[in-house]
Amino acid sequence: MGFVLAAAGSAVGLGNIWKFPYITGENGGGAFVLVYLLCILLVGVPVMIAEILLGRATKASPVSAYRSQSRPGSPWVGIGVLGVLAAYLLLSYYSAVAGWAMHYTYLSVTNEIAGSSPEQVQGLFAALTASVPTGLGWQFAFLLLTFGVVAAGVTHGIERWARIMMPSLLVLMLVLLGKAMTMDGWGEGIEFLFGMRTDNLTAGGVLEALGHAFFTLSLGMGSMITYGSYLSSKDDLASASLLTAGTDTLVALLASMVVFPIAFTFALEPGAGPGLIFVTIPTALAQMAGGSILSIVFFVMLVFAALTSAIAIFEVVTAYLVDDFGLSRNKACVTGGLAVVLIGVPPSVSAVWFDRVDYFVSNWALPLGGLGIAVFVAWKMNAALRRGEFESGSRLAKFYRTWLWILKYPVPACIVVVFLHAVGLV
Ligand code: PHE
Repeated sequence: MGFVLAAAGSAVGLGNIWKFPYITGENGGGAFVLVYLLCILLVGVPVMIAEILLGRATKASPVSAYRSQSRPGSPWVGIGVLGVLAAYLLLSYYSAVAGWAMHYTYLSVTNEIAGSSPEQVQGLFAALTASVPTGLGWQFAFLLLTFGVVAAGVTHGIERWARIMMPSLLVLMLVLLGKAMTMDGWGEGIEFLFGMRTDNLTAGGVLEALGHAFFTLSLGMGSMITYGSYLSSKDDLASASLLTAGTDTLVALLASMVVFPIAFTFALEPGAGPGLIFVTIPTALAQMAGGSILSIVFFVMLVFAALTSAIAIFEVVTAYLVDDFGLSRNKACVTGGLAVVLIGVPPSVSAVWFDRVDYFVSNWALPLGGLGIAVFVAWKMNAALRRGEFESGSRLAKFYRTWLWILKYPVPACIVVVFLHAVGLV
């Protein structure tokens, strides 16, 4: 259970509450959600098992895990390095959005949300994106918090907190869901989310659904390898992966079931883009009894969920600097941190850069990393070690062959076909 909560702390983050609703809105709902769920189940879960398994088998950090399972100078180590690059770029814009959540925490504390009209709430987001210093200031504050936690070595302490925060976040989402159910736009919102309208789905949308499955489950950059290295041989790896993926999907669906009814009730555009939750959720909170307290609680939890994910992302960068460049942990945090701060400026000041970096990381780098991990674990890793790891402590040991088969054929095939489809070749 401790492992699942820690892994869920990494998986549940802005991807679930901020990103999933907004890309679902942009892709017209319904069919996109279905493709996403299929990607989670058919590609995400098998790859998650592979990543955690590699971590537990090698007890190493991401890049070293590949190295320990291949010959010196082997190109397989490149998958690990690609993961480090993805982690570095991902943090550059993830921190910008986490900074928005911090700004909204501040707005909640100073009581600027409760009682506001929907227009005023929209004005708050417009004012935030219009002010470069505000955006950058909060982004740096969030990054400092992340680096501080990693440098001080209190990651485990934070994860312990996550054990309280994560279930509380779930409860709060249920409260908001209760409110959404009473709204005029409830039926329309749910229809948008689960109704089958395939005409809106494009090849780019399918790529985005696949990419988001990796993003939301924290896969494709080796981050879960780190979590696997904490796992003991008595733990049930496959069940833990399923539970982590299930929790993550539940939070994403809950967030969307809150966001879309609000959007339809207040005639807000579902395809409004990255600002969607920062407009919809405060609009509802502003109207609710106890809204000022609830909005503080919501945004504190959102920052917290972002923090546990950002720690997992930054860990990939620091572990690489420690293992491959021989830096001390503190030096690695400072060097890695400075590099992230520098690269964090463009996505924070330019929406075009933000979209570009997100597009590259989520839709290409993470699925490519996932493809590499799947092929490496299925085809390259020592077979006896792989089987032993899958079966050790597992109630699902009898599914070893099924999992391996899925990882060998359908997973790589799916990723390659979606890539080719996205560039128009199939
Ligand atoms: N899964 C996290 C989220 O959904 C983001 C993340 C990606 C964390 C990769 C770690 C590694 O917000």
